[in-house]
Amino acid sequence: MTVERTRVAIVGAGPAGLFLSHLLAEIGIDSVVLDQRSRSEIESTIRAGILEQGTVELLDRIPGSRARTVGHRHDGIQLRFAGEGHRIDFPGSVGRSVWLYPQHEVLQDLIAARLAAGQDLRFGATVTAVTGVDSETPRVTGTTADGTPFELLADFVVGADGSRSVVRPVVTGSSTGGYFREYPFAWFGILCEAPPSADELIYSNAPEGFALISQRSETVQRMYFQCDPHIDADALSEAQLWDTLQACVPGTTLTEGPIFQRDVLRFRSFVAHELRRGRAALVGDAAHTVPPTGAKGMNLAIADVVLLARALEEWLGHGRTELIDAYPETASRRIWKAQHFSWWMTSMLHAAPDASEFDRLRQLGELRSVVESEAGRTYLAEAYTGWPLETGLTAPVG
Ligand code: PHB
Repeated sequence: MTVERTRVAIVGAGPAGLFLSHLLAEIGIDSVVLDQRSRSEIESTIRAGILEQGTVELLDRIPGSRARTVGHRHDGIQLRFAGEGHRIDFPGSVGRSVWLYPQHEVLQDLIAARLAAGQDLRFGATVTAVTGVDSETPRVTGTTADGTPFELLADFVVGADGSRSVVRPVVTGSSTGGYFREYPFAWFGILCEAPPSADELIYSNAPEGFALISQRSETVQRMYFQCDPHIDADALSEAQLWDTLQACVPGTTLTEGPIFQRDVLRFRSFVAHELRRGRAALVGDAAHTVPPTGAKGMNLAIADVVLLARALEEWLGHGRTELIDAYPETASRRIWKAQHFSWWMTSMLHAAPDASEFDRLRQLGELRSVVESEAGRTYLAEAYTGWPLETGLTAPVG
């Protein structure tokens, strides 16, 4: 077996790993990106679709990014409760917007750009061990797509390999080592062939449960309704799915169409106890999970990566350790704000199975406190569009 060498071994070719490889390449640090999945699997996995303005600005650094051309700018969302809709105006509140551009499209852009730039990007590569993170040269071992063993020596290893991360146990000392919360509900998601039912996303709180009316394109829509986490996704007929969705969005007649995909999304909040150990660190879902209500997942991953890229530039490029030592604390500040926002949106909008009449009326009081107050609307708009990113990155070349 040949032992190979790279500066940074990145485990995981999701948004975090791929974007990190781009930022490192910008500053002349070479990396190898490894992912167990095939390229087509990565490019076709359906995930959420909201990009903060700061995320879109960062993706502008990627040659050929279609976030602004194929994606759509959204200047607000609607909160629907007690039979009425209330618009939160993003530019009017905070001077920023979000973009609806699905994660698998972001991944297609990133993979194409990284391969065009000559990135060493290996699909179907299974990492079986990460060792020596407390030494000068951590080591990543595994097998390639055709079953050949490999061994990679690096200056630093990054776990960007999602919620079932193989790097996380090395950093935290255990595979579960983190702060964790589960919710007593899930989302039933559908993709359907239909025109949009509304101009903007509708987050609807109804006695029957929560629903989110999102979009994908002029002809494909994404919608979710609150469901039991143990539901069998195939048990409901299309007619039942439409009836359930419709009941959760009183006041809007949904435009129906053939449902061609259905899935159940579990709701979890998680933050790893440690984000760095020696020459290894965690980013994105390997470091934290948020429930999808706040649309923060991919944005938070990109925010981690910006901090880590700067820290690695300082350490590997100039021998300065301040930023890498500070990474867990600096990243945690945004992570916990996003955790709070995601939990808050979730608890404010969903019908908890054990909610009393008091809880239900209090929840409506909370929703009114938000939409009827400039401060409330501004807080929601600020968090949803994304807190400012102090990137510290130099302007991209070209
Ligand atoms: C989506 O379009 O998939 C989506 C949008 C907003 C969310 C979650 C998911 O909060």
